[in-house]
Amino acid sequence: MWGFELLLPILLVFKGTWAQWNVWMPRDISTMTNSCVVIPCTFMYPSGVRPYRGIHGIWYFGQPYPQFFPPVVFKSRTDIVHESYKGRTKLLGDLQQRNCTLQINNIGIEHSGRYYFRADLGGTNIFTYPDFSEVKVLDQPIIELPEEIISNQSLEVTCYAPDNCPDMSPEVNWMNTEYLPNLQFSSEYLVESTTAVMSTTITFTPTHKHNGKLLGCKVQYPNTTYIYERIIALDVKYAPRAVEVNVSTDVMEGSMVILHCLVDSNPPSRISWVMLDTELQAETSLNSSLVIESIESGQEGVYTCVADNGYGTMNRSLYLAVKYPPREPLVNESSTVVEGSNLHLHCRTQGNPVPTLTWLKDGNLVGNIIAEEHSVLEIEDITYEGDGEYRCLAENEHGRASSVINITVEFAPVFLLESKCMAVREGIQCVCVASGNPEPAIEFHLPDLNVTINETESRFNYYTHSDGYVATSMIKLKDKPASGLNVLCTMTNIYGTETVRLELQQERKYILAVIIGTIGGVAVIGFIIAAVRYISRKNQKENANPGQDLTLKLESPALFYSAVKKEKPSLRKKVLKTELLGTKFNSILEEPSTGEDSDYQNIVSFSDVDINYASLEFSCIRPKEASAKTDDTSDYTEIKSK
Ligand SMILES: *[C@@H]1O[C@H](CO)[C@@H](O)[C@H](O)[C@H]1NC(C)=O
Ligand SMILES: *[C@@H]1O[C@H](CO)[C@@H](O)[C@H](O)[C@H]1NC(C)=O
Ligand SMILES: *[C@@H]1O[C@H](CO)[C@@H](O)[C@H](O)[C@H]1NC(C)=O
Ligand SMILES: *[C@@H]1O[C@H](CO)[C@@H](O)[C@H](O)[C@H]1NC(C)=O
Ligand SMILES: *[C@@H]1O[C@H](CO)[C@@H](O)[C@H](O)[C@H]1NC(C)=O
Ligand SMILES: *[C@@H]1O[C@H](CO)[C@@H](O)[C@H](O)[C@H]1NC(C)=O
Ligand SMILES: *[C@@H]1O[C@H](CO)[C@@H](O)[C@H](O)[C@H]1NC(C)=O
Ligand SMILES: *[C@@H]1O[C@H](CO)[C@@H](O)[C@H](O)[C@H]1NC(C)=O
Ligand SMILES: *[C@@H]1O[C@H](CO)[C@@H](O)[C@H](O)[C@H]1NC(C)=O
Repeated sequence: MWGFELLLPILLVFKGTWAQWNVWMPRDISTMTNSCVVIPCTFMYPSGVRPYRGIHGIWYFGQPYPQFFPPVVFKSRTDIVHESYKGRTKLLGDLQQRNCTLQINNIGIEHSGRYYFRADLGGTNIFTYPDFSEVKVLDQPIIELPEEIISNQSLEVTCYAPDNCPDMSPEVNWMNTEYLPNLQFSSEYLVESTTAVMSTTITFTPTHKHNGKLLGCKVQYPNTTYIYERIIALDVKYAPRAVEVNVSTDVMEGSMVILHCLVDSNPPSRISWVMLDTELQAETSLNSSLVIESIESGQEGVYTCVADNGYGTMNRSLYLAVKYPPREPLVNESSTVVEGSNLHLHCRTQGNPVPTLTWLKDGNLVGNIIAEEHSVLEIEDITYEGDGEYRCLAENEHGRASSVINITVEFAPVFLLESKCMAVREGIQCVCVASGNPEPAIEFHLPDLNVTINETESRFNYYTHSDGYVATSMIKLKDKPASGLNVLCTMTNIYGTETVRLELQQERKYILAVIIGTIGGVAVIGFIIAAVRYISRKNQKENANPGQDLTLKLESPALFYSAVKKEKPSLRKKVLKTELLGTKFNSILEEPSTGEDSDYQNIVSFSDVDINYASLEFSCIRPKEASAKTDDTSDYTEIKSK
């Protein structure tokens, strides 16, 4: 094969002439250092040439022509050769037979290169053949691998050692093969033309485990100390076979989150992080970290690390749960409803974990506590007591949030028990107290006199005061009726009207007398005296009060009553307060005085000292007979007018 390839151009060159100068020698020939090489060689010369005194030959190294002074490797006419070939070269062939075969012993790396033959037939018939043999001197065997080693595919690896030295035959062996599975060996002696190689091939199926593992080939010449080794590292390509990511975890909203992905593949994979079909980042590496500076609740979800290195793809996912305190609940707007309505109050929030929702009315728990993001508080047939502040409270382990709905209930007027008429020194005072929303308007009717007294008809001593949903109105009749009193109070708002008949509490003195008479004892009397003194002092103080002016303006100090706090109380409190207000009215209405009313007034004044006692006294022990029912109109004929 070598010969054909090399001879062809030469034949073409000399085609058409009968003369032929040509040579045959291997184009390439290898050997191991310290061994030898035999370059097979034959040559031709034109048949017309007659060698003169025999055929001689010269082997040159590097250059074909003497004018370049190439090192002489061998010369048949003399023994003079270049220093580096002294004692190393021997012509095996017989030049007369046109056999120029050369042996070079104890060869070294420095002897690698081109060798040219020059035929010397005497006279002017000296010819250097342009063809050469390139000698490669190796210090390691040659290992032949496929360009790409892919895991789980059968692999053949061959180790070659040239065998071009007849004196020494190499032995080729594999090393470090213990870890290879199902290894098969085959040795082969290959001759190509006249150059030869000794080879040993191993066949196995590598896996990812063999990536990076070392494999060696050793060439030895028996009975010498020459050993040549080559070690290679296996580069086994394999698809991603393991992708490791963090375990699914909980993180707090706003925190910095770092997710790691480690991939086992060869070559390194393109690692990408994918969430909801969106690639967040990608890099080609053995690992990849996804950094989220401040995670938001919307970033909760499945994170997938996808590794792809061209040999395959693999992915691994994790779930990132983002915890956060409840959001401020969304609730209905504050509204005003009519008594008897049905209400559905909605509360909606978000939180992780799912918050519990609690409804509070004026600070007290109402309804059920539920662990959902949506809660409805159903109020059927709401009464005035349903009026107030409804708070939806959302709580989870990370915090709480709440929102308020103010529900205002409108209701028809309700008559309060404090409404009554009382005898005072200058006559009769009638108080009418009503609750209602909108605030009711109060009118007094004196049917016996055919008179109606209200705010607009201010001819009479009509005073009115309102406190939220409670209206208090008062009239004063100049004369005490001798008997019987017929006063009607009408309270009106858009939802209704209620009329009650006011009773005269005339018998209080009598009741007191009975109480005192019954209990008796110095202690009680002493207590009462002390109380009277206390009240007197208190009243003196009150007289020094700026309110005094107002009192005077009102003409009747008895009709002054202090302003009531503006804050909107709960209805229950309101009722209690109304009771208080009633007693206050009483105490204020009564002028501090001596005489027959004093006992009564003293007791009234107790309300300032002990509210409960006062309430008890006026609200509960009121005797039935106290009702002022009489047809006699003559007792109070004069209505004081302004
Ligand atoms: C040339 O000489 C060598 C060594 O004697 C021999 O082995 C080889 O066969 C010869 N070649 C030819 C073509 O005769
Ligand atoms: C090596 O030497 C031993 C004895 O010295 C001899 O028997 C054997 O044939 C030699 N082997 C080779 C390949 O020269
Ligand atoms: C993921 O794992 C790495 C260490 O393997 C750790 O530093 C990191 O905080 C983890 N990320 C989360 C969100 O747990
Ligand atoms: C990730 O890869 C880088 C280089 O790409 C390396 O320096 C680092 O040690 C690797 N980290 C881990 C956890 O393997
Ligand atoms: C992850 O791998 C599965 C199959 O193993 C595939 O169905 C899925 O599409 C992959 N996910 C991504 C994000 O590549
Ligand atoms: C509160 O809002 C919901 C809708 O979010 C509505 O269905 C419901 O009727 C509202 N309730 C009131 C009392 O307005
Ligand atoms: C509810 O009423 C309170 C007091 O009356 C008030 O401070 C608050 O702003 C009101 N809230 C709403 C949502 O109307
Ligand atoms: C009351 O007065 C009205 C007119 O103001 C009159 O029509 C009516 O008859 C009177 N009723 C009585 C009982 O006096
Ligand atoms: C007061 O009474 C008169 C006559 O009865 C009436 O016309 C007027 O509307 C009443 N005013 C109020 C505020 O009710």
